[in-house]
Amino acid sequence: MDHFINPDRITETFAYCLKSGLIKPDDDTSIVFYDFDQLKQKTKLLKQAFPENTLHTSAVKANPLIKVLEKVKDFNLGAEVASEGELRLVIKTGFSNDNIVFDSPAKTFQELEFALRNNIRINSDSFMELDRISKIKETLSSNSKIGLRINPQVGYGSIEATSVAGEYSKFGIPLKNHLNEILDYFLKYNWLSGIHMHIGSQGCNADLLINGFELGLKLIKEINQSIKNQDRKLEFIDIGGGLPVSYHHNLTPPDIKDYGNRIKNMFGLYELGNMQLITEFGRFLHANSGFILSKVEYAKHYNESNTIIIHSGADILLRECLNPGNWFHEFSVLNKEGKVKKSINTKKYHIAGPLCFANDIVARNVELPQVDEGDYIVIHDTGAYTFGMWSKYLSRPFPKVIGFDNSNYKIIRNRESFDEIIKFWT
Ligand code: LLP
Repeated sequence: MDHFINPDRITETFAYCLKSGLIKPDDDTSIVFYDFDQLKQKTKLLKQAFPENTLHTSAVKANPLIKVLEKVKDFNLGAEVASEGELRLVIKTGFSNDNIVFDSPAKTFQELEFALRNNIRINSDSFMELDRISKIKETLSSNSKIGLRINPQVGYGSIEATSVAGEYSKFGIPLKNHLNEILDYFLKYNWLSGIHMHIGSQGCNADLLINGFELGLKLIKEINQSIKNQDRKLEFIDIGGGLPVSYHHNLTPPDIKDYGNRIKNMFGLYELGNMQLITEFGRFLHANSGFILSKVEYAKHYNESNTIIIHSGADILLRECLNPGNWFHEFSVLNKEGKVKKSINTKKYHIAGPLCFANDIVARNVELPQVDEGDYIVIHDTGAYTFGMWSKYLSRPFPKVIGFDNSNYKIIRNRESFDEIIKFWT
């Protein structure tokens, strides 16, 4: 499958949306698109790659739009949440309790109580959190399954800012020096029944992810050995997300089928019976399913540099602007009617956002055909961690979102109104 929504398909989408009035060119200076067919295809590949009884959840932080979550649920995926807001979002969407996984290093007493009362699976980030859960369990009965997040300390991927399994990480229990305490806690709390880990997001190759998984399996063996006298075994291992995607049509990302096979083989080697596997992919499911169209408000052609000012900057592409060496989207140019501009006479452009700070620049020195005022820039592969990291800086409206499959196009979220913005700051 081509991971990249091809520019001709984008042209067709844009032309339809213009003609049917879904896009109003004067108001919709930035529009987010999401392709449900891509999500369906990714879901299928994921399910085929892993053992059949795996619970696959979608990391809600990657794409929290309710209409996307509804599809995620319809495709029989669960939801991984990392705050009470996300938890309430997925309950409202109708996910069943046993398909929800609650992670977060900052769960309050109230949040834990809410999750326990609703029988939601919780991955605890610390021993202190386990003690809180124990206290709450004295006051109510709950069927929540509880796991403990460990940091297997396998090292960083190529992007430090999204790597969470180095020697130090703010997440989980560092495995190397805390094995005895971990074993003690599993002995002490007989409701503790799983292990959770997440190595990092993008930049972590399959070897690193598999190394972490293997340390998790080894730990489970040791825990099972230690709780044998209690006549019980651990029930689940949650491997988090982290499979990298490609942001460039010429680059091949790790293959989900190979990754799934390696997980299956390793799992088999450890003979853990019918222990359940859980995944929490975000980027793999969503990144290639979205693109952003942003109108060129000004094209500044000077001898020494060319800068185009568009309407999507660090408010929606936060990492790309603040951490530019690590994120490389591809761009296309459409004219006013949505036709892809192609030319051999290209120029180098800085693609700058609308915000008031110097590094609100989405990409520098990008080779593009001549760009003119009123054209649109397509930013490819923006379905994960873009609008989910939306910033209210400068009080600009959150863009309209259009979802599509085949040739059905729908507004799945309206552009934010100025009244809503005023309400936010009131
Ligand atoms: N599970 C946990 C516990 C996570 O923290 C994450 C991502 C995932 C699963 C999903 O990882 P994925 O499959 O999407 O790689 N652009 C953002 C990315 C942060 C990722 C956060 N955690 C950023 O730069 O902050």
